[in-house]
Amino acid sequence: MSADTRVVFAGVTFNNPVVAASGTFGFGREYSEYYDLSELGGICTKGLTLAPRLGNPPPRIAETPMGMLNSVGLQNPGVEEFIRYELPFMRRFDTRVIANIAGESAAEYAAMAERLSDAGVDMIEVNVSCPNVKNGGLQFGVSAAAVAEVTREVRRRANVPVMVKLSPNVTDITEMARAAESEGADAVSLINTLLGMRIDIKTRRPVLANNTGGLSGAAVLPVALRMIWQTRQAVRIPILGMGGITTGADAVEALLAGASLVGVGTASFSYPEAALSIRDGIAEYMNQNKIGSVSELTGSVILN
Ligand SMILES: Cc1cc2nc3c(=O)[nH]c(=O)nc-3n(C[C@H](O)[C@H](O)[C@H](O)COP(=O)(O)O)c2cc1C
Repeated sequence: MSADTRVVFAGVTFNNPVVAASGTFGFGREYSEYYDLSELGGICTKGLTLAPRLGNPPPRIAETPMGMLNSVGLQNPGVEEFIRYELPFMRRFDTRVIANIAGESAAEYAAMAERLSDAGVDMIEVNVSCPNVKNGGLQFGVSAAAVAEVTREVRRRANVPVMVKLSPNVTDITEMARAAESEGADAVSLINTLLGMRIDIKTRRPVLANNTGGLSGAAVLPVALRMIWQTRQAVRIPILGMGGITTGADAVEALLAGASLVGVGTASFSYPEAALSIRDGIAEYMNQNKIGSVSELTGSVILN
């Protein structure tokens, strides 16, 4: 018997548990030259804003040991252009489309969520955790009251399941997860990037034009696993777990910690087929360990 890798997540059926993480996959066009996007469970779009954005000035990427820092700053074509041009492209594939949104107010988040759900995306991912923009990001995600307000407004107007993307740049991530759940979030995703900095010792200037940026990649995996595990115990809604997942074994760890789906971001930059090899690695682990469904793995870590 080979493992059944389908996952029903917040009422939406994913063909497998691997989802491309927001901002690391664009709208899939570039990666579609490497493989058939129907091979992925789902794709989280680049963070969308109401109006198009050019993002932050360069340099906005820096290498770090086992990871990277970015301060892209939500460069995107805006919701309307996404609906007109990118969504029809993404809809050609048998994969779930998750629209990642960032707004400057709860009302703006809600308006975008309504427009996008009417346009036919499968889920909304509410990004309250972007560390690289002044408005429309982390100022919401570090306050439980703001997480609750944005979730409430989005949930009222979206006609599809709503997932809230949480920031690791907080003292207690479970407080934010509870705030989202209490206002009707159907799921949470975590973690977004960890706020970081690098300095060029010759010029004494920060490497990034924005001075600080978000740390992602293999270096953050243990932090992500700890936060997924803590969140699993705090809420009942399902978790899309991400942060540093690079191999099938990393993904199995995230599932054991409590994730129902796993996100792959930075790993795709150095190896475009990373998401597929992670998907295959999960299936191989399931077959070797006679595990029939992904849900049997979720949260099944055996504590010491
Ligand atoms: C270049 C870059 C851009 C990103 N843009 C977004 C974004 O627009 N919205 C969002 O919610 N997360 C964004 N993220 C965060 C990722 O979706 C993911 O949460 C984070 O990178 C951790 O996963 P990873 O270590 O697998 O990359 C971005 C990450 C990177 C590296």
